[in-house]
Amino acid sequence: MLKRLVVGNWKMNLGANQARELVTALLSKRSAPIRSEVWIAPPNLHLSKLSELVRGSAIKLGAQNVHWENSGAFTGEISKSMLLELGVGFALAGHSERRHVFAESNELAAKRARVASTDFKVIFCIGETSQERESAQTEAILASQLKALTNELTAEIASGLILAYEPVWAIGTGKVASSEDIRNAHAFIDQYWRSQSKFPTPAILYGGSVAPDNFEAIVRIPLVSGALVGGASLVFEKFSKLIEIAEAA
Ligand code: PGA
Repeated sequence: MLKRLVVGNWKMNLGANQARELVTALLSKRSAPIRSEVWIAPPNLHLSKLSELVRGSAIKLGAQNVHWENSGAFTGEISKSMLLELGVGFALAGHSERRHVFAESNELAAKRARVASTDFKVIFCIGETSQERESAQTEAILASQLKALTNELTAEIASGLILAYEPVWAIGTGKVASSEDIRNAHAFIDQYWRSQSKFPTPAILYGGSVAPDNFEAIVRIPLVSGALVGGASLVFEKFSKLIEIAEAA
């Protein structure tokens, strides 16, 4: 059985000292997770130092974005081979802030996600805005975001993929989606994936204002394999509580 995933996306937060302190505190928790996995995506600048710190531990490090080429004239970008060299095992692709603040298209997000492989996981993020939800376009938006990815899949790519359903209106707002919204969206994603791809549906995480007081209910929803967590992943007490909830689920 796939373990529950608790993934922290630090975004552009925490300086080097704060990053080290938070990871040290997580590593010093008495028992290592057994039924869950703990993954962290700090700013790229901290990856080298933190990879030394987490070596041999249960924490997996990741990047918040990844380029599809190994090297070249791509200012501001970082490649999978550079990440693997540091022992970094996953990246996000298509996060809503990349899509909406930096105008990354469905095609670009899908291109990034296609670096997924057995030794490098990619969490491909999808989700609708509040306007799209209000105009009953949620499923059409999820389908178009997924379609860009399922168009050119190989067994190797599929083996490294994880999906994250993150309604844009729930990210960083404290407005978590209802259990019904999450259940419906995850069921739709699973059904759409199966209609488009011969590969099994990847694990699907939920993201958007996940916190200790709502995660217990979320983690029990069918087809929810864990959470992608922003704000609550920056606070040791909150993030470790989420890990405990995943362990107990
Ligand atoms: P949030 O962010 O938990 O702060 O809502 C989630 C995300 O952006 O992945």
